[in-house]
Amino acid sequence: MSFIEAASVDDLPVGTMKHVEIRGIEIALANVNGTVYAVSDRCGHQNASLSKGKLDGKIITCPLHHAQFDVTTGKMVSGMVELSLPGMDRTPKKFQDALKAIGELTSHIKTHDLPPFPVKVAGNRIFVKV
Ligand code: FES
Repeated sequence: MSFIEAASVDDLPVGTMKHVEIRGIEIALANVNGTVYAVSDRCGHQNASLSKGKLDGKIITCPLHHAQFDVTTGKMVSGMVELSLPGMDRTPKKFQDALKAIGELTSHIKTHDLPPFPVKVAGNRIFVKV
C-alpha cells in the first residue's frame, strides 16, 4: 500500500464529498470541518454510491436506503430505513405488495462497516493510501 494522489483540496470544500477511483477501488472523500477522510464509496448494505448521499458533520447518509456511517471511522451508526413513497396509497395494490416484499427482503441484508483509508494532505493535494 502506498499514498496515491486522489484530488485537489480545491475540489473538496468543507461539508462536501467527492468520488474518486484509485487502483479500481471506489473511494468517497469527505471534508469534515477542514479535515479530509476517505472511506469506501460503496455502501455496506447494497453498494450504493455513498458520495451521492448526504454529508452532515461526520455522518454520511446513503442515498438508497438511508443507512448512516461515521466517515471518520467507517463504522455504521444506523441501519437502513424502509421508506414509503409519496402517493404510494394511490398505486395499484399489486405494486404496493411487490414493493413491500422487496422492502422486507432488503431489510434482512446485513449492513457492514466501511473500510476507511488513511489520508494525507500535502499543499493543495489529497493523497489516499490504498
Ligand atoms: S444501499 Fe445503502 S442503505 Fe441500502
